[in-house]
Amino acid sequence: MRGEKIPVGILGATGIVGQRLVALLEQHPWFEVTEVAASDRSAGLRYEEAVHWLLPSPIPERVRRLVVKECAPGLECQLVFSALPADVAAEVEPEFARAGYVVCSNASAHRLEPDVPLLIPEVNPDHLQAIAHQRRRRGWARGFIVTNPNCSTIHLTLVLKPLMDRFGLRQVMVTTLQALSGAGYPGVTSLDIVDNVIPFIKNEEEKLETETRKLLGRWEGEGFAFAPLRISAQCNRVPTLDGHMECVSLAFERRPTREEIIEALASFASVPQQLRLPTAPARPIVVREEPDRPQPRLDREVERGMASVVGRIRPCAILDYKMVILGHNTIRGAAGAALLNAELLLAQGWLP
Ligand SMILES: NC(=O)c1ccc[n+]([C@@H]2O[C@H](COP(=O)([O-])OP(=O)(O)OC[C@H]3O[C@@H](n4cnc5c(N)ncnc54)[C@H](OP(=O)(O)O)[C@@H]3O)[C@@H](O)[C@H]2O)c1
Repeated sequence: MRGEKIPVGILGATGIVGQRLVALLEQHPWFEVTEVAASDRSAGLRYEEAVHWLLPSPIPERVRRLVVKECAPGLECQLVFSALPADVAAEVEPEFARAGYVVCSNASAHRLEPDVPLLIPEVNPDHLQAIAHQRRRRGWARGFIVTNPNCSTIHLTLVLKPLMDRFGLRQVMVTTLQALSGAGYPGVTSLDIVDNVIPFIKNEEEKLETETRKLLGRWEGEGFAFAPLRISAQCNRVPTLDGHMECVSLAFERRPTREEIIEALASFASVPQQLRLPTAPARPIVVREEPDRPQPRLDREVERGMASVVGRIRPCAILDYKMVILGHNTIRGAAGAALLNAELLLAQGWLP
């Protein structure tokens, strides 16, 4: 796309999502990591000293020896990926945007703000129109914030989008079984989760019920109209490492056949596929017909972790149909989502 790579920074680079970003950005055709930043516990150390590296691949050579900085403007890059805890992101991300940086955030802090795009490039690329409004409203000349959804929301919404467009959606009931890496590092202690399921993840049900409606809604010039969809979510932490599973029941406006649902899901492609963005999956939704799929260990890496895998599509005795969705929570659910957002921003001329 362009000769020189764009220098990028990672805020929260030592965490689970930050590490995924470091790994996904190695050999990226458009971006190169020039800055890593984290808390004052890590600042001043070389990345390899500060990080507790959790991925099977080695720490990329060019990042290994970078000195970790504090999360404050002054980083030598134009674009920052934020993988900060929400309370830290609430303060730090606007400081970066005010200072002229483009911020692609994983954190929940700004997702629901009325001038901040909550983006899935396959679902609502038109919501990027809110950036101009955001800059005007906040007096930011060059910088802005774009967010990606919660790790369960993104897979649910990817699957709902083609179904809503074709058949209309009225009601969604979803029960999640969420992997341990979704809780960050060190996350849930082993004595709490081994031989156990925890039926509570703080704020998670609210995120699924609200973010999904913003994503499937419309940008109306000065704010977002949320989709008029009823969603009820129950969220559980289970002892898998990566890959969130979601058992979903749906009520449609016009009840499709099972074949029509499969066709709508399997043929779904959108702007990232048309633009051939480097991190875009060729198939954003992969349908499995076997009675015992998808499974986290077997299916989370499909399309390099960037697809939502759907199986067990069958009639529901209460709503119309039910199905199981599986998706990688730290790739498509976090780091890969922020990266795809940045690729869309670059392809559509939003980056300097
Ligand atoms: N894990 C997932 O599946 C997932 C999915 C979607 C969204 N998210 C969101 O992404 C964000 C990161 O999640 P994570 O799972 O990667 O968390 P994590 O493993 O706990 O990592 C947190 C990162 O933030 C840094 N940090 C903590 N406090 C800080 C402070 N006061 N100032 C500056 N940096 C600070 C940490 O640096 P130190 O190492 O120096 O402490 C670390 O790099 C969260 O907002 C989370 O909700 C996570």
